[in-house]
Amino acid sequence: MREYRIAAIPGDGIGPEVIAAGLRVLDRLAIVDGRFRLQVEHFPWSSAYYLEHGHYIPEDGLARLRQFDAIFFGAVGAREVPDHVSLWGLRLPIAQGFDQYANVRPARLLPGVDSPLAGGKDIDWVIIRENSEGEYAGNGGRAHRGLPIEVGTETAVFTRAGVERIHRYAFNLARNRPRRHLTLVTKSNAQRFGMVMWDEIFYEVAKDFPDVTTDRELVDAVTTRMVLKPATLDVVVATNLHADILSDLAAALSGSLGIAPTANLNPDRSFPSMFEPIHGSAFDITGKGIANPIATFWTAAMMLEHLGEHAAARQLMDAIERTTAARVFTPDLGGTATTDQVTQAVCEALAPAR
Ligand code: IPM
Ligand code: MG
Repeated sequence: MREYRIAAIPGDGIGPEVIAAGLRVLDRLAIVDGRFRLQVEHFPWSSAYYLEHGHYIPEDGLARLRQFDAIFFGAVGAREVPDHVSLWGLRLPIAQGFDQYANVRPARLLPGVDSPLAGGKDIDWVIIRENSEGEYAGNGGRAHRGLPIEVGTETAVFTRAGVERIHRYAFNLARNRPRRHLTLVTKSNAQRFGMVMWDEIFYEVAKDFPDVTTDRELVDAVTTRMVLKPATLDVVVATNLHADILSDLAAALSGSLGIAPTANLNPDRSFPSMFEPIHGSAFDITGKGIANPIATFWTAAMMLEHLGEHAAARQLMDAIERTTAARVFTPDLGGTATTDQVTQAVCEALAPAR
């Protein structure tokens, strides 16, 4: 029996609701599969915890997390704490501290789900987001606070090592998909230093992947391509901020933010990787029992994939797709099902078919 240690950090808002649903489905899957077991430890780090203790992550927090095989993360963000404080207090210290530089965001129209796009069935993309530097490097400052001459700077930081490794990751991923196509996204017409370096390094790395076809698009132009010609895209590689924006658009075009998963990967496996739904806290529906757990289930499938449990990951995706095909939908997808009912439906779909 293979055993994995999972750190669960439900966090804020609907995080605890969807993580509980995700763990229920994973428990069921472990029984049905019979070849692996998950040992889950819960960490109460959240905005409520911060307001009580003055920090999100205790001093030995990262050292403790490091012992785990993977981190299953809900959401962070609360009305009582400024967003930049919660983000820099919990999610970024983990993602950056554990060098989870590859943020993988698949978008696909699941069976039964309606896209706002006529051509939505053509959506089958993976957005690769650089996750360790760029616009999220935390480089900047403020001076002359409160004075008429106040100034704020926000400097994006791109390193050759950081850019090369994300391109290499994206090419490898593209190579293993049927269409083997990778689109480079930057804004190197207006931003002529870091962005031009991104483009240059992309074409250097491309020489090692002659089997992957490539093209490039400016970030503004790629939004129109996503909407008007979705079939022409396969894998997209972009900087931290650009891919953040594109992945919300991708989620909306594939039906709902409530289904979009993400993996924050440390590909060399010197640290645990972190898996989370991309939707965030969603205060408006917190506690109502109607959060869509599909993003978290898909996220769990990505976690199993990373752990090497490929058969179980496939089985989970299959159960998710059978549930969406039957249109067991929460309100974000136009249905009336509760989190609990969707979870139950996926658990039932996991029962062995034979
Ligand atoms: C995401 C989110 C976060 C981000 C927010 C919550 C800070 O939008 O994971 O896409 O921008 O990284
Ligand atoms: Mg985002």
